[in-house]
Amino acid sequence: MSTFLEEFPQAEGLLYLNHAAVAPWPRRSAEAISRFAQQNVALGARDYPQWVSVEDRLRARFQRLLNAPSVDDIALVKNTSEALSFVAQGLNWAAGDQVVISDEEFPSNRIVWEALQPLGVEVVKVSLTVEDPEAALLAACGPRTRLLAVSCVQYASGLKLDMARLGAGLKAQGILFCIDAIQQLGAQPFDVQAYDCDFAMADGHKWLLGPEGLGVFYCRERVRPTLALREFGWHMVERMGDYSRTDWEPARSARRFECGSPNMLGTMGLEASLGLLEEVGMPEVARLIEARIQQLSEGLSAIPGVQQHQPADPARRAGILTFSAAGKDHQALWRQLMDAGVVCIPRGKGIRLSPHFYTSPAIIDQALGIIDKLARQ
Ligand SMILES: Cc1ncc(COP(=O)(O)O)c(C=O)c1O
Repeated sequence: MSTFLEEFPQAEGLLYLNHAAVAPWPRRSAEAISRFAQQNVALGARDYPQWVSVEDRLRARFQRLLNAPSVDDIALVKNTSEALSFVAQGLNWAAGDQVVISDEEFPSNRIVWEALQPLGVEVVKVSLTVEDPEAALLAACGPRTRLLAVSCVQYASGLKLDMARLGAGLKAQGILFCIDAIQQLGAQPFDVQAYDCDFAMADGHKWLLGPEGLGVFYCRERVRPTLALREFGWHMVERMGDYSRTDWEPARSARRFECGSPNMLGTMGLEASLGLLEEVGMPEVARLIEARIQQLSEGLSAIPGVQQHQPADPARRAGILTFSAAGKDHQALWRQLMDAGVVCIPRGKGIRLSPHFYTSPAIIDQALGIIDKLARQ
C-alpha cells in the first residue's frame, strides 16, 4: 500500500474526497505526460510509432477493464457525452419510439435523448426511489421501447443498480441497453458481457484517474453496423493510412467512431493511470473504496444532525456518499469544508464525498473531524 501512496504525493493538508468529479493524477501519469512533452520539444513526432503502441496498450487495458470480447469493441472518444451522442444520433429512430432512463441521471444521459424529441422519440423517466429500482425500470419498458439508458451508479445519490439483472430483463424484450459507466469504471469491477449491454461509455478523469478529454466507448460487435456514423475522416476507415485510395468503407472495428487524430497527450496519462489500477486490481480497488465509504458512513452517523443520503445496503453503493447537516446550507457548508482542505462538492441532497482506493484511513478521520466541528457550529 505504501508504494501506492507514493503515487499520490498530494499537497500537505489536502483531503481529496472528490474522485466522482475530477480526480488527481497519480505521479506516474504526470511523469508520462511530462516525458511526452519533453519528447515533443526535443524530437517532435519522430517516434510516432512508439506513441501508437501506447495507444494500443490503452485499448487493451480498456478491453480488460470492461471485459469486452475484443479490443475491436473499444473506441477512444472525447468523453461520455460524445459516446452517448454516437448512440443517440446513430440509431434509426421512428416517431413513437421510447427511450427509458431514470429521473436522476446526470444531464449527459438525459439531454442526448431529449434532443431526439423533434424525431418523435419519447423519453420515459423512471423514479429510482422505490424498493426495487430495476423492476421499476423494466416495468416502464413496453412494445415501443427501443433502448434503456442508465448510469450504473447515480452521480448524486450514489445508488448502484444491478446491471446484470437489467441486461437479462432487456434481452428478453429485445431492447437495447446503454450504460453510462463513468461512476463505476475504475471504482469497481465492470463487465459488459455479464451485463449483456450493447453500449457502455465513460470518461477518464474520475475513478480512472486520468486527464479530462479522453474516454472509452464500448460498442457491441453485432450492433455496430446498425449505428449510422455522424463523424468522418481519415482515421475511421478500414484501410487507414492508404491515403491515395479514393474508395473507402468505415472500419469494421469501433475505430469507426474515431474520425481523426487521437488525443495522444491524454493517452499518455490515461494509459499510465489504468496501469496503476490494473496493478492494484479492481477487486482490491473496490474493497478499499468500500472500507473508506464504511468508515465515512460510521463517522458521519456519530455526528448529531448529520443525515446520509446514500443507500444503506453496501451492495447498492460504490464510491459515493452524500450527506447534509441539519440547519446548514449546503453551499455555505461546502465552502467551509473546502477552506478547511476537504475537497468535495455539493450534489443532490447534500455534499458528496468520494474517496478512492489510495485514500488513507487517516485522511478520512481528519475529514470527519472537520465535518464534525463545522456541523456542530
Ligand atoms: C453519471 C455521469 N455521466 C457523465 C458525466 C460527465 O460526462 P462527460 O464525460 O461527457 O464530461 C458525469 C460527470 O459528472 C457523470 O457523473
